[in-house]
Amino acid sequence: MAILVTGGAGYIGSHTCVELLEAGYEIVVVDNYTNSSPEALNRVMEITGRTFPVYELDLRDRGALAEVFEAHSIDAVIHFAGLKAVGESVRSPLWYYEMNMNSTLVLCEVMGIYGVRRLVFSSSATVYGASGDMPLAEDSPVEAASPYGRTKQMIEQILQDLAVSDMRWSICILRYFNPVGAHKSGRIGENPAGIPNNLMPYLSQVAAGRLEQLSVYGSDYPTPDGTGIRDYIHVVDLALGHIRALGQIMDCAGLDIYNLGTGRGASVLEMIASFEQATGAKVPYRFAARRPGDIAVSCADVRKARYGLGWTASRGLSEMCEDTWRWQANNPDGYVSHEYRFMTDL
Ligand code: NAD
Ligand code: WQD
Repeated sequence: MAILVTGGAGYIGSHTCVELLEAGYEIVVVDNYTNSSPEALNRVMEITGRTFPVYELDLRDRGALAEVFEAHSIDAVIHFAGLKAVGESVRSPLWYYEMNMNSTLVLCEVMGIYGVRRLVFSSSATVYGASGDMPLAEDSPVEAASPYGRTKQMIEQILQDLAVSDMRWSICILRYFNPVGAHKSGRIGENPAGIPNNLMPYLSQVAAGRLEQLSVYGSDYPTPDGTGIRDYIHVVDLALGHIRALGQIMDCAGLDIYNLGTGRGASVLEMIASFEQATGAKVPYRFAARRPGDIAVSCADVRKARYGLGWTASRGLSEMCEDTWRWQANNPDGYVSHEYRFMTDL
């Protein structure tokens, strides 16, 4: 059984490649490395002791993608590839629509030509509107608040239209909450370019002494300690959710949507405390103004994934923090090799 993984060199993609290989799947990876490094895939091979074909290509390149489908007998696709930074999408909306929408349209078109109609798509909790009651169920109102979120919302709609147009399609849309953590080996993890935007990579770089202190955005939210609450999920639990989703699309046609979260929220202050407790490192912080666009609470209703996919997240906050820290401590420069750093220093 061969699975095409788009964006397989990225954070969630690389962890899912490990779990796919360990579950016995063959994989083929395509990535343009716009936000990742080929080194991540070398390390997937190192962790699993398996090799697999890797193609450096942009999904929008129809001809290059078709050659991959010519060369391999693909049974299903997991589509991670895309741009994901909310702030960047506000500054460069056309770039986000171009990259995320067109790459998905080309992918689905080529899949259809080659008769591959099984797809798992990476969506996001960011599609939910700000006014929804907590926890967020899959039928909660959808109203993304950024160009990035709207690409996910629009792609979900396109996939629903596709499933209606041709009953042979089998599609699983997964809405991730806040992925954090890293593989136990400490060899793969989240590798943000420049100064991180998200809490966990920022917090771990503060703990490592690379950044001076964490700004806690907002201390006056209507939450028990006044800081924002999110549903953080370990990236390996998330990766395992994809294995379950694949099982589902192998068996039945149509389209389904599932939240992937833990169902438990943690505030920013709780995350800092968990990190310090799990790692022994100190995380200096100060309170700052609310970050524009943030909401007070985001937390998943996970019942549908439990009953529909037979999946639940099992890793708790301390494991998320320990694994993030192992990755951060062992790879202070992420995947950037010393040779490369030397060249850029010149
Ligand atoms: P990532 O940036 O680490 O990985 C995405 C990968 O896609 C990268 O390797 C990038 O080089 C590749 N890519 C981007 N555009 C491409 C294109 N046109 N052609 C080929 N390759 C391309 O991101 P991630 O955190 O692993 O996220 C994976 C998916 O999950 C994304 O679609 C993202 O929007 C979604 N998601 C992520 C989060 C999160 O917080 N990390 C939350 C919800 C949803
Ligand atoms: C978490 C909490 C911040 C940084 C984002 C995207 C979303 C999805 C997941 C892709 C919030 C607070 C953060 C910092 C802080 N990605 N914070 N200081 O905003 O919930 O979701 O990633 O689909 O689309 O928007 O995650 O990690 O940025 O923030 O206090 O330096 O941490 O205010 O309460 P967010 P995050």
